[in-house]
Amino acid sequence: MAFFSKNHSASPAPSQIPRHIAIIMDGNGRWAKKRFMPRFAGHAKGVEALKTTVSHCLERGVEYLTVFAFSSENWQRPPEEVGLLMQLFTKVLQQEVTRLNQHGVRLHVVGDVSRFDKTLQNLILQAEADTAGNTRLHLTIAANYGGRWDMLQAAQKLSETDAAWTEEGLRRHLSMAFAPDPDLFIRTGGEQRVSNFLLWQLAYSELHFTDTLWPEFDGAALDEAIASFANRERRFGRTSDQVQGAGVGGSKGGEKIC
Ligand code: FPP
Repeated sequence: MAFFSKNHSASPAPSQIPRHIAIIMDGNGRWAKKRFMPRFAGHAKGVEALKTTVSHCLERGVEYLTVFAFSSENWQRPPEEVGLLMQLFTKVLQQEVTRLNQHGVRLHVVGDVSRFDKTLQNLILQAEADTAGNTRLHLTIAANYGGRWDMLQAAQKLSETDAAWTEEGLRRHLSMAFAPDPDLFIRTGGEQRVSNFLLWQLAYSELHFTDTLWPEFDGAALDEAIASFANRERRFGRTSDQVQGAGVGGSKGGEKIC
């Protein structure tokens, strides 16, 4: 499959494109099982789907893409699967940084990486440093991440300062402080849960659930999610009349509020 080069015909209008998309990439195991393959084959195919999604986000002008690659609860999986996921993560970091740079993609990794082995930790730091000058798309991989962990570590950091306990004060210490909150949250694989992902940041995100298994998620599936987003009215607690009167009607053709 070509990397960073897929073309798609019907393009949504730029005003309908979410600035930030967050994805729970679920369904790798089931995709493999349906084909009598080991679960790991599903994860390997999932990396291909992630590359396709990065490519499509670049084409559509999405500025931030955040994906849940490994949750703090995933350590409970069989050790063999955990080990293979770590190897896959290592391989992605070793192989993809050059292409990320060619396409202006800045890589961030959020989560408690201290539990990963030193080689992986160093690769993460190196990949972040090597792509730090890029601005076209921020690709964030959440690894050993949990939304509760994130809020707790932010609260601990805030308590070590003299700053006031305000939402803005706490937000500054969250691991996604560099990004606007996600406009659109997508979960593949048929489950309708947030599963401890970006708990703070998803407060006003539009949610899109699809039965498509992650390895089968492609540009058309992403466009479908974007089209669903474009039809929502984002009210942020206000009434529909207020939103329409103000001419800032969420994503429905109007200017978006992030
Ligand atoms: C959920 O599917 C997927 C994961 C826990 C891992 C996601 C990993 C990838 C897409 C590949 C690795 C990505 C990087 C960046 C290295 P599941 O295993 O829970 O599927 P199931 O629900 O069908 O069992």
